[in-house]
Amino acid sequence: MTPSEISQEEERDSLIFSLLIRKPGETVSGETLAQALGISRVALHKRIDKLRSQGVPIQAIHRKGYVLEEIPDLLIPPVLSFLLNTKKMGRHYHFMQETESTNLVAREFAQTGAPEGTLVVAESQTGGRGRQGRSWFSPKGENLYLSIILRPGISLLESSQVTFLISVALTQVIREKLGLDALIKWPNDIYIKRKKVAGILLETENVGTKLRYLIAGVGINVNTPADGFPPQISTRATSLSIESQKRHLRPQVLAWFLNALEKWYEEFETGNREKVLTYWREHNYTLGKKVHLENGRKGWAIGITPQGALLVRTTGGTVLPVNAGDVEVLG
Ligand code: BTN
Repeated sequence: MTPSEISQEEERDSLIFSLLIRKPGETVSGETLAQALGISRVALHKRIDKLRSQGVPIQAIHRKGYVLEEIPDLLIPPVLSFLLNTKKMGRHYHFMQETESTNLVAREFAQTGAPEGTLVVAESQTGGRGRQGRSWFSPKGENLYLSIILRPGISLLESSQVTFLISVALTQVIREKLGLDALIKWPNDIYIKRKKVAGILLETENVGTKLRYLIAGVGINVNTPADGFPPQISTRATSLSIESQKRHLRPQVLAWFLNALEKWYEEFETGNREKVLTYWREHNYTLGKKVHLENGRKGWAIGITPQGALLVRTTGGTVLPVNAGDVEVLG
């Protein structure tokens, strides 16, 4: 199993999709479509049937042609590639209806040399994984579960900085595209109004101190309704739709995120790491607050180091770097 580069057939599907969606609700004749694609009417029919079987609601109007009313909430390659504006992120794409964990699939691809930016997405996960051995709630058709392979030229010690750029890209999209007040809770949870809306699980493969590749697994609660979370997380979790009181198109949110990620990753790769940290600091939920550490100590979160450690001034006055784990934000 390898993540394919968009195939010629998928490119055609993508073109059919974009020709129809550019005129939402208007009929486009079969002749126009077949000509634009350079294929016969019979071949066009087959491609349209394939798109319909994937759930794209293309209607055929007798003697007139085809109509598509709106972008469907599907994560299939032609829909994503229509919305994507990247060179690298998501250009190798593997989509599954269901899998145990997209991070596991991405790891298999990375081991066999899949290029940087390879994206794995599933409609649902049977064993979605969170940080610190927790599970990640992954119901079908509501949210986004994705993993991206990155191969930055950095050392293992610097890898947590990549988490920062992922949380920064996601926070920026939620704030600027959806107008919601998203903030980053150290180390890499995205919060809206004291509830978690997205999480990042970073996994690395190393040779000695050298990083071979990194898998960034991202879970975003997009459309889970207020009564849709299991009881153990329902008081702490939220979704984009709960916060904005409307459903969101998952392929659009995914494409916005990948577009933003590519820009922030370029900044990071060209050495502008301070820019990433500055955005992180300016949109964080933790700094300046009283926090409770896992070892039972309490203190004030006063900063982060370039390596990603949280600096906490304990009640005794000592400044401790917290490198891993979670902190509870008290107020
Ligand atoms: C956390 O906040 O605990 C991290 C959650 C990460 C969840 C995502 S969903 C896609 C990818 N696959 C997984 O199994 N986990 C990550």
